Amino acid sequence: MPIKVNQINDWVTEIVDFDCASMTAEMQEEAQEAFKLRHVLVFRDQSLTPTELKEFSKRFGPVEVPINQMYAHPECKEVLILSNEIRPDGTAVGLVDGGDGWHSDSSHLLTPAKATILQSIKNPDVGGDTIYCNMHLAFDALPEATKARILGRFGVHNVSKTINPRMTVSANRPDAKEFYEKAAKNRPSVLQPMVRTHPVTGRQSLYVSPRFTIAIDGMPDEQAQPLLDDLFEYVYDERFQYRHVWSDRDLVMWDNRCLNHKATGNLAPGDIRRMHRTVLVGDEAYYSPEGRLRS
Ligand code: OGA
Ligand code: MN
Repeated sequence: MPIKVNQINDWVTEIVDFDCASMTAEMQEEAQEAFKLRHVLVFRDQSLTPTELKEFSKRFGPVEVPINQMYAHPECKEVLILSNEIRPDGTAVGLVDGGDGWHSDSSHLLTPAKATILQSIKNPDVGGDTIYCNMHLAFDALPEATKARILGRFGVHNVSKTINPRMTVSANRPDAKEFYEKAAKNRPSVLQPMVRTHPVTGRQSLYVSPRFTIAIDGMPDEQAQPLLDDLFEYVYDERFQYRHVWSDRDLVMWDNRCLNHKATGNLAPGDIRRMHRTVLVGDEAYYSPEGRLRS
């Protein structure tokens, strides 16, 4: 029986009456088909345990183990907790700054994320939306001269905020400064094509972000930084965006190969937001045979 969908726009769809915890092979295939056409799938009223979330995720591909295990769920190392909740002893329940700034998940790794699955456990009364930007549309809309400047070029991606002038280290995350200082030393930059081809649809999209792209390989910063600034100013236009306003128990799966996203934050102290997240590992070879560490 085909799954029921409720189209939100051309590239975002709600999958109706679908229980992720008891997904049959047939349902999985249908969801997979939907994901070829749509870049964001929204499932409502899901109450998966962390282990069920991992199991659901694994049906779509290998699941990443988060590099910061400090905020992994105690029951399941693949599930990362995103939360602004602080325990009475002052420690953080989850990652408070996950989703800061426009980005595509794990583009700082040689095998960047294919998809991310984010489940709302507790939604705040105010704020906490997630915005998505369709990087196919953003690329298509670029002036031809700009396309010509970036086609065939590689962006330099790094996870550390301390070496990224476009980002600031969040003061409200206790381990952030140390984590990013260490990462700047231990986690080498990775090159990613500035324009990538989607392995399933063959469509091109822009694959840069202010959160992770800190330079352009082989281009002096005097030219590269203004070019990146221009791109970032141009691409995050409302025409290319979808804003997800979360309800408790929403589960959203998105395609990192052609989208950027960011958390909008604006949470009031004590107004708790809690999300559980898994990331599906992508396959570098599909789109970037030359993908490599920066020499
Ligand atoms: C993520 C992320 C955004 C949000 O989980 O990768 O960026 O709104 N989340 O929590
Ligand atoms: Mn993210």
